Amino acid sequence: MQLRGQARATGWILPVICLVPLRGWAGSSHRARLAPEGIREGVRSDPGGPDHQQLGPLADWWQGLCYLWDQYLGEQLQGFSEQPGDDDLSWNPRCGHVPLRFCEWQLPHRQIQWRQLNLLAHTSQENALPGIPEGMRGRGLVTTVYSRRLPMVLANIARLRANGCKLPIQVWHDDELPVEECTTLGLWSVECRSLRNLLPRESMRGYQLSLPSIVFSEFEQILFFSSDVFFAGNICDMFDSPEFEEYGYVLWPELWESGMVELGSEEARYYADSTHPEHVFWDLFNVLHNSSNPQHRRATDTQLVLLDKRRHWDVLNLALLFCTDPPEKSRQFYFRGHSYGAMNAEKDSHKWALLALNRPFYLVERGGTVGSLEFVADLPHFSPCGLVIYGPPSYGGQLLAAAIGKEDGLYRGLACFDEARVALTYSAFGEHCVPRTVPHALNAADLDACASKAPAEVAPMVEDLEYLLYHAAESLGTRLSSVFKPRFECS
Ligand SMILES: *[C@@H]1O[C@H](CO)[C@@H](O)[C@H](O)[C@H]1NC(C)=O
Repeated sequence: MQLRGQARATGWILPVICLVPLRGWAGSSHRARLAPEGIREGVRSDPGGPDHQQLGPLADWWQGLCYLWDQYLGEQLQGFSEQPGDDDLSWNPRCGHVPLRFCEWQLPHRQIQWRQLNLLAHTSQENALPGIPEGMRGRGLVTTVYSRRLPMVLANIARLRANGCKLPIQVWHDDELPVEECTTLGLWSVECRSLRNLLPRESMRGYQLSLPSIVFSEFEQILFFSSDVFFAGNICDMFDSPEFEEYGYVLWPELWESGMVELGSEEARYYADSTHPEHVFWDLFNVLHNSSNPQHRRATDTQLVLLDKRRHWDVLNLALLFCTDPPEKSRQFYFRGHSYGAMNAEKDSHKWALLALNRPFYLVERGGTVGSLEFVADLPHFSPCGLVIYGPPSYGGQLLAAAIGKEDGLYRGLACFDEARVALTYSAFGEHCVPRTVPHALNAADLDACASKAPAEVAPMVEDLEYLLYHAAESLGTRLSSVFKPRFECS
C-alpha cells in the first residue's frame, strides 16, 4: 500500500485533469506544510461568528441540565440492583448493549428526560433552552476529526475547492489537534475549532462530539460530513436544493433496512436495530412503527447531514441529548465514546429526534456499496471498498460522495484508490439486495438486480484522491500508512 502511494508520488507532475486550480503546487521543492495554490481564494478568512462568550450561556445551560439529570437519574436508578458491569458485552434486539431489565427500568425516566428538554425548548420561562446564539449565520461545512484522519479531510477539501465550493469549512476537535496542524489546515482553507469548555460533559468523546460540533459552530445552515467522506462534485450546491429548502433537514440512509434480517443479514439486525418494531425507541418516543415508511424502515448515518439550525433548533438539541450519557457504565442508555448502548452511537440521532418531534424531513432514497467483482473458489463475489452516497432527485440522483474506509470490513487502505477496485456498485435497497461490508457471494439474480457499473464520477475521483492524500499527508508531516489501518486491525 505504501509502495503504491510512493510510486504515484514520484510521478506526481503527471496531469490530473480535475486539479487545474492546484497546479501551482507542482513547482515547489519544499512541500511540507504547503497548501495548494489558489485554494484560499474567495474563502472567508474572518469567520465573524459568535465567540466563546456568546456560546457560553448555551454551554452553561447544558452543563447545568446534565448536572440536574445526574441527580434525578442517580436517585431513580439507585433502587435497581442489576446495573451492568464493565465486562457486560451482551446484546439484545430491544436495547442493544443495555441489558434488557436495566433498559426497561430506565424507560419511564428517559421518557421524562427528553420530554422535559422539549418543554424547555418551547417555553419562555427563565430556565428555557437558550435560543440559537447571537451571531450564528450563513452556511458552512463542519466535520469532527482526530489527527490520524486529517489527510483525508484535506484531500477531500482540496478537491472540493477545485470543484468551486467557497463556503467556510471547519474541523472541530476537543483540543486534540496541535497548533501546527491547525496552521497547516488553515493553509488548506480549513479552520480549526475547539470544543473545550463548551461540551455538556467533559467526559464526552468519540462519536459524542459530532452533535456538539454542529450545535456550537457559527453557521446557521450546516453540512456535516464524516472525515472519511469524499465529495464527488461541488456538494455545496446541496444548500440550494429544493429538498433542503422544503424541509430544512436532509438525511442519508446507511446500508441496511429492517426487512433484510429475513434475508439473513446479521449486519441489518445489529446496525439497523432501531428500525425493528421491537426496539425500545418506538416506545420511548411514542412513535407507531410503520414498516411501509422508509423513514421508519431504514437506518441512517451521519456521514452527511444537511440542516437548518434556526428552523430545527429543538430537534438538534434533542439529538445532542442522546450524546450526553455520563461515563459510568452503570448509567448508560444511549451510547458513549465509541461504544454503543441502545443507540448505535450517534448515527441515528438526527432521525430519532425528528421522529420524536414528529418533524418532516427528507431522507435520500438510494444507497449502496462500491467495489469490484472477485472470484473466490471460482464463485463470483462482490468485494466492497466503501459506500456510495447519492443526491436527492433534484440532483438527478447523481453520486454525491463516497466513504472509503469506514466500516470495519472496509479498511482496504490505498488499494481502494484504484479505479479497478471501485468499478461496480451494489445497491442497498434493490429488491432482495443485501449489502455487506465484507466480500459476499453473488448469485446470478444478485448480479443482475443489485450490481451495476459504478457512476462515471468514481474513477476520476479515486485517482485524484490518491494523489491528494499523499500530498495532504506530506503537508501534515505524516505518512499515508498511518491514515489507513490494515484490514481486520480496526479499533
Ligand atoms: C405508512 O407509511 C406509508 C408510506 O409512507 C404511508 O403511505 C401510510 O399512510 C402510513 N400508514 C400509517 C398508518 O401511517
